[in-house]
Amino acid sequence: MRTCPLLLYFFLIFVSQVISDPDPLQDYCIAQPQNSQTFFVNGAPCVNPANAEASHFTTSALSKPGNTAANPLGFNVTLTNIKNLPGMNTLGLTMARVDIAGNGLVPPHTHPRASEVTILVKGSLLVGFVDTSNRLYTQQLREGDSFVFPKGLIHFLYNLESRAPALCISGLSSQNPGAQLASSATFTTKPSIPDDILKKAFQINGQDVSRIRKNLGG
Ligand SMILES: *[C@@H]1O[C@H](CO)[C@@H](O)[C@H](O)[C@H]1NC(C)=O
Repeated sequence: MRTCPLLLYFFLIFVSQVISDPDPLQDYCIAQPQNSQTFFVNGAPCVNPANAEASHFTTSALSKPGNTAANPLGFNVTLTNIKNLPGMNTLGLTMARVDIAGNGLVPPHTHPRASEVTILVKGSLLVGFVDTSNRLYTQQLREGDSFVFPKGLIHFLYNLESRAPALCISGLSSQNPGAQLASSATFTTKPSIPDDILKKAFQINGQDVSRIRKNLGG
């Protein structure tokens, strides 16, 4: 079959447009705080550019550690978003501060809309991701090391130190990366995925299903 080069060209343009957040058509679009939203856009409406301030482009949201004790796995993720950093609206970016207690774990999860690059600021981490052929890529990070998790792939971060907390800062390639934990997306959904499905999928029995649900707080 012969492929029309022009069609191929438009197809490639189309693909390059759908694999990341859309490019902004203006310098910025500072998110407008809304009380009652009456119309809906992909992102948030912009404030009048004449009212733009430097403060719209700065945030202290990541300056304080998250409370890792509030979570049984010992991690806490603090994100920038259009509320605490309205100037990032439409720019296709999010930053995250990830605090992980001693032997704490950010469990296997995906970001359906973003690749993530992380830099270990403090501590010692074992990080890894799994590609679509189920190959696992892991790396032990020391302070100052970075690692990239490709878009949509399952990944985790584990603090190898039993006492010292770890801190990393991540950049994500979407203003709304989304996060889906593999464990909660299967065992603690609302409503529940029927037991028969989980039994078959994980090759376990009904008691196993109940125990895992209960352990995960479902
Ligand atoms: C993360 O830390 C913040 C700040 O201490 C706290 O308000 C929040 O509840 C914590 N989140 C989780 C999921 O533990």
